[in-house]
Amino acid sequence: MADEVTDLLREAYADEIETVMNYMANSIVLDGVRAEEIKESLQADIQEELGHAQQLGERLKQLDEAPPGSMDFEARQESLQPPADTTDVISVIDGVVEAEEGAIATYRSLITAAEEADDPVTEDLAVTLLADEEAHRTEFRGFRKEYAAD
Ligand SMILES: [Fe+2]
Ligand SMILES: [Fe+2]
Repeated sequence: MADEVTDLLREAYADEIETVMNYMANSIVLDGVRAEEIKESLQADIQEELGHAQQLGERLKQLDEAPPGSMDFEARQESLQPPADTTDVISVIDGVVEAEEGAIATYRSLITAAEEADDPVTEDLAVTLLADEEAHRTEFRGFRKEYAAD
């Protein structure tokens, strides 16, 4: 079961790194007055997601493992690619909500695996990161409501 914990830690680490890439690209490319708030929010989240990756990497090290390098990286966030139409803010919002839901599912799995492996330190980390991702999802769901309204 300890393998499942480190597998999930590696998976979560890679997802956080990919999230940083895509939030950064989208925070740069979006155009228009309506995009400003989304861009600011993404910029703030970049730092948070990077902090998540760092904590996951540190936990892997404490478990005598290592975070993956780029050659082991497999991209997965198709829906979060910068849109061809740079005013298409909604597609970015939807991509963010999907990415946050993916992260939420991974941290839930990590909580269960860590509990079964009697690893309360990893479990505690996963609970903390889960709370952050739920807050991100709420924020972007709110943006989506606002955009759907006009
Ligand atoms: Fe994160
Ligand atoms: Fe997040």
